[in-house]
Amino acid sequence: MTQTTRFPEGFLWGGATAANQLEGGFNEGNKGLNIPDVMPGGKIRHTVRQDPSLDFTIDQEKYHYPKHQGIDFYHRYKEDIALFAEMGFKAYRMSIAWSRIFPNGDELEPNEEGLAFYDNVFDELLKYDIEPVVTLSHYEMPLHLVKEYGGWRNREVVTFFERYASVVFNRYKDKVKYWLTFNEINSGLRIPLYGLGFVRRKEEDKYQPTFQAFHHQFLASALAVQLGHEIIPDSQIGCMLLYTPVYAYDCHPENVMYVLEEARMFNYFCGDVQVRGKYPSFMNKYFKENNIELDIQDGDLELLEKGKVDFISLSYYMSRTDRKENEGAGEGNMVGGMKNPYLKASDWGWEIDPTGLRISLNELYDRYELPLFVVENGLGAYDKVEGDGTIHDDYRIEYLREHIDAMGQAIEDGVEMIGYTPWGCIDLVSAGTGEMEKRYGFIHVDLDNEGNGTLERKRKKSFYWYKNVIKTNGEEL
Ligand code: BG6
Repeated sequence: MTQTTRFPEGFLWGGATAANQLEGGFNEGNKGLNIPDVMPGGKIRHTVRQDPSLDFTIDQEKYHYPKHQGIDFYHRYKEDIALFAEMGFKAYRMSIAWSRIFPNGDELEPNEEGLAFYDNVFDELLKYDIEPVVTLSHYEMPLHLVKEYGGWRNREVVTFFERYASVVFNRYKDKVKYWLTFNEINSGLRIPLYGLGFVRRKEEDKYQPTFQAFHHQFLASALAVQLGHEIIPDSQIGCMLLYTPVYAYDCHPENVMYVLEEARMFNYFCGDVQVRGKYPSFMNKYFKENNIELDIQDGDLELLEKGKVDFISLSYYMSRTDRKENEGAGEGNMVGGMKNPYLKASDWGWEIDPTGLRISLNELYDRYELPLFVVENGLGAYDKVEGDGTIHDDYRIEYLREHIDAMGQAIEDGVEMIGYTPWGCIDLVSAGTGEMEKRYGFIHVDLDNEGNGTLERKRKKSFYWYKNVIKTNGEEL
């Protein structure tokens, strides 16, 4: 592999997590319940997140709720941040749990204990010169807003989010410059409960509530960008997209057209609104064809135009290969499609495609010409702790090496990049499966799927490897 100095000076190497997957302390510090708190581990979670009749009651006798404890970052953040610093992190992507700040979401005054917790976390990061990169909403909507307001379907939620954003911008204005509005905003198309805060009711139209909820999120995002710029003039506020390049299974023009349409909807619809400040033309046709009539009120379109983001962040795990006659039926990997014969897959069936990252970065940069920040990427895998306590995660090193190399190639292609924060830099609870044993970390956490373990932290082989990557600014992979 060629070793060059491709990464710009000041490139933000680091790692990424989300509050609900690592903090624990779910009922401490006056925190209110949020969606992840009521998601049990195991297969039952599929039913819970799709059943509109469930009232999200916690039944601890019956189920295990892995996110109640997370990996106990709430109490161990100092130890964990010290380990990030030991690796040489320049940045740490994390999220604020909205329900720590506004336990129900609709209060007028914030919860001081929640605010103080993040003050402590940011201070600890800054002590080591680690730049916090903060997501305002990472699948963490307060449960009260889901149950009483119907999630993002309800326009009132925009005001609550605006209040939340204003409180945290004011409170942390001297500590946090990089902000992301909604994690993987386009994922609301796949799992509406996590992204949009509701499960579609049986009698409801398939499309209308979803796209109305997106409209409200776009307004909330635009308001947050505007507020952030006012309150923190040197802030950088980005959108966050779950990006999966879509490949045509073959060169039949119908299939090429099909994947173009799929990519437009999944990869570009949200980004176009947040980056360009307006709905893309292809959505007008889609809205017409599906009888969607958005309630767009006076001033909404001007607000979108004024609330354009400064940069684009993305998660990249896999590509998708598809063709028309497949019609979304195939199970190529997590994002659907078909098996790509050229790619291997992870233990969870996610296809491994480093070139897909280079393609994604080029596609996004060509389209928007804004700096890009890869804020999630990584390999979820089973790890084995050897008798002497070591963990030889060479498969993870190989995955990351190839993806970092692909990112370096994209930079050589001309793409402007801010940084790279691989997902789950410390093992944490999986968002998709609720498992602990789907591990991404450089740091191992002694905890199993049922919640047994000492929570002890251990450095994996990849810890030392990544430390050197950062030290050499990506020269030595
Ligand atoms: C992203 C999410 O979709 O993928 C994270 O933003 C998530 O929250 C990550 O953890 C990996 O997915 P999973 O299902 O392996 O945890």
